[in-house]
Amino acid sequence: METTDSTMFLVVKSEHGQHVHGLLKNEGWLEAEVETRRSDDGTIGFPLASLCPVEGVVNWLNSTSSLEGVVEMHQGVRRPTVDPHRRLHKAIQTWLDENGLALEAITLAPAKWEKLGDLALLPRQVSTTEAWKKARSHEHAESLWGAMAAALNVSAIGVQAPIADDTFRSSQVEMLLGPSEVCFTDHGMTYTFDAAKVMFSSGNITERRRIGNLDMSGEVVVDAYAGVGYYTFPMLVHAGAAHVHACEINPASLAGLKAGAEANGIRHQMTVHEGDNTVSLASLQGIADRCHLGLLPSSEAVWEASLLALKPTGGILHIHMNVEEENIEDWVKDTVVRFEQMSQHHQRGFNAEVLHLERVKWFAPRVRHVVLDLRLRP
Ligand SMILES: C[S@@+](CC[C@H](N)C(=O)[O-])C[C@H]1O[C@@H](n2cnc3c(N)ncnc32)[C@H](O)[C@@H]1O
Repeated sequence: METTDSTMFLVVKSEHGQHVHGLLKNEGWLEAEVETRRSDDGTIGFPLASLCPVEGVVNWLNSTSSLEGVVEMHQGVRRPTVDPHRRLHKAIQTWLDENGLALEAITLAPAKWEKLGDLALLPRQVSTTEAWKKARSHEHAESLWGAMAAALNVSAIGVQAPIADDTFRSSQVEMLLGPSEVCFTDHGMTYTFDAAKVMFSSGNITERRRIGNLDMSGEVVVDAYAGVGYYTFPMLVHAGAAHVHACEINPASLAGLKAGAEANGIRHQMTVHEGDNTVSLASLQGIADRCHLGLLPSSEAVWEASLLALKPTGGILHIHMNVEEENIEDWVKDTVVRFEQMSQHHQRGFNAEVLHLERVKWFAPRVRHVVLDLRLRP
């Protein structure tokens, strides 16, 4: 009775849904690859697996439970499950079977991935196994990437790699399928860049939201490590900053920064300073209400220049740093002292006040990525 694009559904009243679901699952009669259907009329339809005896299922159900008069059968169009993990497993298993590889899909399927628009980035660990190496070197590997992309609803697939230990913090993504250029919207902002050349810290999403939720109305801000606009865009689009001086050295990031600013309609509120920020910041003295210092493991290289970039009336710094958990309190105290000393040295007369310490994420075991919000004012 089942065709490739249609399936039989057992329809019951929603109040019996949990009970019937359990019964069907026990018998192995529930089709896991098709979505259950809820209807406005208060019924729920369970897709039946091919080995379910469709003709007898209603009688069977009536005899095992008292659901009289509420059970019926419907033939309906199959709608694939929305669970991408399931879809991915199935796509991989089909490819393995078709290509005669005696491997389990689980050995090739990552438990998680990162989606940047139309590109899915798989974690590096998945690519280090023997099973992966076998699949990777298979003559039909391309069709596996295609099947995985279709299952994840993307057109490109890549594998994550550690961020390069270079000035640019370059991405070293290995592309398996499709283009590495991405364009996507995050929290109402468009980002567009080449993911094979530029890293995007999806893990910093809470920090991007936090920065976007601050009130920067009318402020002039210096973003010392602008990247592709990770913080520049939230500061302009959501926090209300009037103008951002965006410093960036990586040509690939600069291209993304400018394209993203155009796409977000904020290009006129952003001055891009291309090249080493220690040079650019020297020409930005006494102009800023706020400086954002978003480099890991440390932004110390621009602490002094950012202090000098603040207006004589002072301002706020957002200082990113990787700090060992047990040293965080000491680091905060030391940083306050350091800025007050620098301020004295440059006759700025600023006091440093800790506004907030954000623990963004674990960077490594026992090492936290933190952001210290420091207010400096006379
Ligand atoms: C870690 S990325 C930015 C990531 C972003 N802050 C985040 O947390 O998602 C740091 C950026 O700073 C840039 N950068 C590093 N050193 C720089 C320097 N001396 N001058 C200007 N930009 C620099 C890199 O090219 C890179 O785009």
